[in-house]
Amino acid sequence: MEIYVVKDYKEMSKKAAKIIAEEMKRKKDLVLGLATGSTPEGTYAKLAKMCEKGKIDFSNVVTFNLDEYLGLEDEHEQSYHHFMDKHLFSKVNIKPKNTNVPAGCPKNIEKTCEKYDKKIESLGGIDLQLLGIGNNGHIGFNEPGDVFIPETHVAKLTEATLDANARLFKSKDEVPKESITMGMKSIMNAKKILLLASGSGKANAICMSLSGPITPWVPASILQLHNDLIVVIDEEAAQQILEQKKTMQRARVYKSY
Ligand code: GLP
Repeated sequence: MEIYVVKDYKEMSKKAAKIIAEEMKRKKDLVLGLATGSTPEGTYAKLAKMCEKGKIDFSNVVTFNLDEYLGLEDEHEQSYHHFMDKHLFSKVNIKPKNTNVPAGCPKNIEKTCEKYDKKIESLGGIDLQLLGIGNNGHIGFNEPGDVFIPETHVAKLTEATLDANARLFKSKDEVPKESITMGMKSIMNAKKILLLASGSGKANAICMSLSGPITPWVPASILQLHNDLIVVIDEEAAQQILEQKKTMQRARVYKSY
């Protein structure tokens, strides 16, 4: 595990964009796993700028998003389809046919989930998976529970997530109660994983995930088993994990602030 502790959100976004850009240069037809939420917004803005300047090229890149709210049409302002169009896809030279986001209103949910996993597999899996993290340690919408679910599946949102995501809707009641999310198999099969977190609100989730026991009750804790995990966090999000001596000894830690 490599942990980069940077000063703030801006530096996190810069570092993350740099890592993604390097992978894109290394492999023109990169299979890139993408995340939504406030955390990667700055990273996407940086990537859009790099693309505008001709420094990176999305023309052969294929993307797979982690998740979507169940019941939201693609055009809905809070759908992850809309988020991705707004923050990345409309700003770079990616081919729309190369972008994949789970359908929010699928005709057949089971088949849609199955097809999503098969499509990822048919391309040889994800090369680089970008991840944010929920306050409760969720990744994608893999919420805390009894088991890690391997496949793309329908997931019920926990109260903690409904509360956290209510800020983006008019009221908590409007937050969809379910989602479609990539499961742990596609995430863990990614050749490289880039986990981002910013702010003190994520400090506990980061510490529990990277330093605590590996348990489905803290979904991101499974990432400890990945052998190419890069973590980019800001000073505030790093507060608690920096105190975990054993984890810090195991990881390669780079501080730049
Ligand atoms: C959402 C998404 C996750 C995201 C997380 C954190 O529920 N499903 O993929 O990582 O919440 O969001 P934020 O970056 O806005 O804190």
